[in-house]
Amino acid sequence: MQVTVTVNGTEYVREIEPRLLLVHFLRDTLGLTGTHWGCDTSNCGTCVAWMGGVPVKTCTVLAAMADGREVRTVEGLASGGTLDPVQQAFSDKHGLQCGFCTPGMLMTSRWLLDHDPDPSEETIREAISGQICRCTGYENIVRSVKAAAELQREGAK
Ligand code: FES
Ligand code: FES
Repeated sequence: MQVTVTVNGTEYVREIEPRLLLVHFLRDTLGLTGTHWGCDTSNCGTCVAWMGGVPVKTCTVLAAMADGREVRTVEGLASGGTLDPVQQAFSDKHGLQCGFCTPGMLMTSRWLLDHDPDPSEETIREAISGQICRCTGYENIVRSVKAAAELQREGAK
């Protein structure tokens, strides 16, 4: 079947198998390997990208369901060579660690800050609760999201 999917503002028309998952469409068909593939059982959240403006676990979505829709991946965060505040803050506050969970964390954080520019620690922890970081505790990640909110507020002044 043929699908037309707009990813990070670029329209792609591709022939796919109807059973193809969105995570594999992004990674293998389009070569956008920023979206990671971890568990394939909807548990880890490293595959989170946006579809229709909402974070989704792309291992639970068929690529066919993205037909005619907008998808945003971690490759679409930076703009004109400038990192998004969430990317900058994860770098500044050591939220990157091994990096495996990072794309999903960044996409969820971006969505959170779009909807709540000054989230509490509790709100941040709840927002990322569907995503597993295997590296350490979540301290640096939570600190990074808080720092991103601050960077964003400063940038808006
Ligand atoms: S690969 Fe999608 S939730 Fe783990
Ligand atoms: S930074 Fe390594 S899994 Fe989260």
